[in-house]
Amino acid sequence: MEFFADTADVEAIRELGEAGLIDGVTTNPTLVAKTGRDFLSVIGEICAITEGPVSAEVASTDFTGMVAEGERLADIAGNVVIKLPLTLDGLKACAHFRRVGIRTNVTLCFSAAQAILAAKAGASYVSPFIGRMDDINLDGVALIRDIRRIFDNYGFETKLLAASIRSPNHVTRSALAGADVATCPPTVIKSLVAHPLTEKGLHGFLSDWKRSGQSIV
Ligand code: E4P
Repeated sequence: MEFFADTADVEAIRELGEAGLIDGVTTNPTLVAKTGRDFLSVIGEICAITEGPVSAEVASTDFTGMVAEGERLADIAGNVVIKLPLTLDGLKACAHFRRVGIRTNVTLCFSAAQAILAAKAGASYVSPFIGRMDDINLDGVALIRDIRRIFDNYGFETKLLAASIRSPNHVTRSALAGADVATCPPTVIKSLVAHPLTEKGLHGFLSDWKRSGQSIV
């Protein structure tokens, strides 16, 4: 499973990248607004420190506007992936970018039927928002499982990107359900490392080592 950082915080991306923990980045207008910085510069900086795909979202809602904005974003760097909303115009724009060889991430997916449309339009990624589904008492992980099965049934090549992840449990359950990628806030990626028995075990090893009076270097 690949991990993407779901953030526009350049320093957080740098830290996770240096630790070798991420394969790409996703952003959205809310995450960019939180930084208070200029959108195009932030995306440029993220692309410069990230080898993998960086999703940058259009703000227009009509086909012509999405194509113009997507072309501008794609000019920033070769690893930009154009993020498009799951609307008819978004799907039309997706098919357009597929024809010209620019990768896309179709976002705001909340049903298997929507995911089929994204795959048929040639999306590189489709992003079901599992946390937002759980928030309203729907089963986000069940949606990942359904989409996986459908994509495998028909050989769709669109990557299944579990988004709106809130916890380590979401990550594990999405992996079991067959997501290709999980995009997570940096806090969630870092929290995956924590286990009380790891901490307790390390504490025990260190105190025994200290008692032995030895040193390695
Ligand atoms: C996905 O690409 C989105 O940026 C993101 O996962 C949305 O998550 P949220 O529901 O926490 O805003």
